[in-house]
Amino acid sequence: MNEDDAGDAEQPAGATRATLEWADGRTLSVEPQPDEPVLDAAERADAGLPYGCRHGACGTCTARLLDGDPESLDHRRPPRALKPRHLDAGYVLLCVAEARSDCRLRVGSDVLAETRPAPWRDAGDG
Ligand code: FES
Repeated sequence: MNEDDAGDAEQPAGATRATLEWADGRTLSVEPQPDEPVLDAAERADAGLPYGCRHGACGTCTARLLDGDPESLDHRRPPRALKPRHLDAGYVLLCVAEARSDCRLRVGSDVLAETRPAPWRDAGDG
């Protein structure tokens, strides 16, 4: 774990680094093991990310890829909580997402809110 020093620490050959970024500007870099969900690596680092089902159904762990190749994260199970348009927009489920290469992710409960309908927001639009 490296807090607030993304890119500074020496990275073991073959390891991947996922840099987590919160809305308040806090960052934390974690290094998921091969075949380990990013959420598990974040928990080891006491990141305090929200989660629920841990198998891709509830969406509580939704994050958004900020940079990195879209192929840098691979869902080990179907990300059922996300619609195709969310996947196309870079949203991922950290409980079932494995890092294949370095990436940067926006995390926190506000990311999930972006993927959920907000009836009050659209009231009166139509
Ligand atoms: S914790 Fe439910 S989808 Fe990830």
